Amino acid sequence: MAAIGIDYGTSNSEVVYFDGQQHHFVKLDPSLEAANKIRSSVFIYYTGELPRPPIPMIEAKVAQLKRAISDKIDKAKDGYYEAQEPREQQIFSDRIGNLRTELHNLPALQERAIELLLEDMTVQDLSLQQLVETGEFAFGEEGFRRYLKTPEKGRLIYSPKNFLGANLVAGQHQAFVGLIAKQLEFFRVSAEQQLGKSVDSAVIGRPVRFHGTRGQEGNNQAIDIMTQAANLAGFNKVEFLEEPIAAAYKIERTLDKQTNVLVVDIGGGTTDICCIKLSPEKSQNLDRQQDVMSVTGTRLGGMECDKNLIIKSISPTMGQGLLMHNGLPVPPAYFSDMCAVDDIPRLNRFFSEEYWLEIANTKSLVKEPALLSRLQEVQEEKLSARLVNSSRLAKELLSTKDEITLPLHYIEDDYEVNLNVAELKRSMQTWLTRVKNLVTECLQNSSEPPEMLFITGGMSLSPIVTKELLDMLPNLPLMQGDAFNSVCEGLGIQAAKLT
Ligand SMILES: Nc1ncnc2c1ncn2[C@@H]1O[C@H](COP(=O)(O)OP(=O)(O)OP(=O)(O)O)[C@@H](O)[C@H]1O
Ligand SMILES: [Mg+2]
Repeated sequence: MAAIGIDYGTSNSEVVYFDGQQHHFVKLDPSLEAANKIRSSVFIYYTGELPRPPIPMIEAKVAQLKRAISDKIDKAKDGYYEAQEPREQQIFSDRIGNLRTELHNLPALQERAIELLLEDMTVQDLSLQQLVETGEFAFGEEGFRRYLKTPEKGRLIYSPKNFLGANLVAGQHQAFVGLIAKQLEFFRVSAEQQLGKSVDSAVIGRPVRFHGTRGQEGNNQAIDIMTQAANLAGFNKVEFLEEPIAAAYKIERTLDKQTNVLVVDIGGGTTDICCIKLSPEKSQNLDRQQDVMSVTGTRLGGMECDKNLIIKSISPTMGQGLLMHNGLPVPPAYFSDMCAVDDIPRLNRFFSEEYWLEIANTKSLVKEPALLSRLQEVQEEKLSARLVNSSRLAKELLSTKDEITLPLHYIEDDYEVNLNVAELKRSMQTWLTRVKNLVTECLQNSSEPPEMLFITGGMSLSPIVTKELLDMLPNLPLMQGDAFNSVCEGLGIQAAKLT
């Protein structure tokens, strides 16, 4: 039996097995160049008919059908009493009889109700729980491609991890358990196939604080969902380890003496930081909590930058800042609501008909309605996740280029936005300040100062981020390491200690 490390990330996930000497990355997505990681988004879809509508919907429709039949009965009764001849009375009497039979034939009414509901039901009408219970799953690039090609056939959950600490309404808790169980099972089975041994245990990475506004309650909920999902996915033993501590275990193996290290992991959803005493002698110990001098984290990841880039640099080309006839600006909330891909209720509100009407009204009150048509297109075609993804690509490209042209042809033919590093940096200012405040908090809580700095997570590939941190900590030598694999390799090291 083998134990694996699972880095279940907001943007990407990875699975690693450590055999005591070497790390073995499990290939998760053949369509990616770096096949050992996989997009964490999931597309749940239908190829055939949609599932039966939810029971309350059917009941409401049945009640509506019954009311219509009762009305017909009342009319037939009026006809009966007004009829002059027995033959005419007989016709009404027969009709009343037939309608009464119809009224009390519940199975037939339910069938008709389902038929009618299915006629105008779309995937968007299904609850997450129904989707998870009845839909087909596509992971990674395959799922994202399916979403781009046939968005109307399913629903894309852009970053399931973002919702684990959130306020979930009835049914959503179980829906996320089911959804994540499918992903973890896919990881476990892939690992078993590639390692050639059965896998029943895992050390799963966790952010210090999950994305959400509910503090400890949200963290407990997230761990509960992940634990249940892992058990459903066939893992008998599951442990969780804070992501920056996992990254520290990985770099510990490269040290030759005891060193206090500040680890900063800036991922897609959260920034997690720890100050930890590392030493080659201790690396075999199972429990290292006494070596962690301080650890902190918050929901402040790369996705926040993607949204900020949209709000600061792309939204002005979509009507943000336009003045209406009354001199007031177009409501800025339109653009932040458009980006709320990690807030299901808010995004659903943005996609609603009322919202469409409001934008349409606003459009009639500005001089350049064409710009707002782009916003309306995102609203109507539910393109928020796609737009945030485009912004992510732009941000990543601006790590190596000074300026780029971002094509947004799926919103409007020939629609392109020019973006440069200075703009990106400007859009990241508040975010950077908050990251730096978190570093300060971690340093203040640590009993000893760090001697070295290690920056990891995808956002460490942004020169804007690394420069800011190096300027802040000029006396700390920077350890070289990997942006994506360190957390997972550390989780693999911890997993190996379980067996
Ligand atoms: N070359 C790059 N330049 C800038 N940012 C990048 C680059 N490559 C990836 N990123 C960003 O890094 C983030 C993803 O990092 P990572 O894979 O470490 O996150 P994660 O582990 O999925 O998330 P988390 O740990 O927060 O749950 C994304 O926001 C992505 O846009
Ligand atoms: Mg991560």
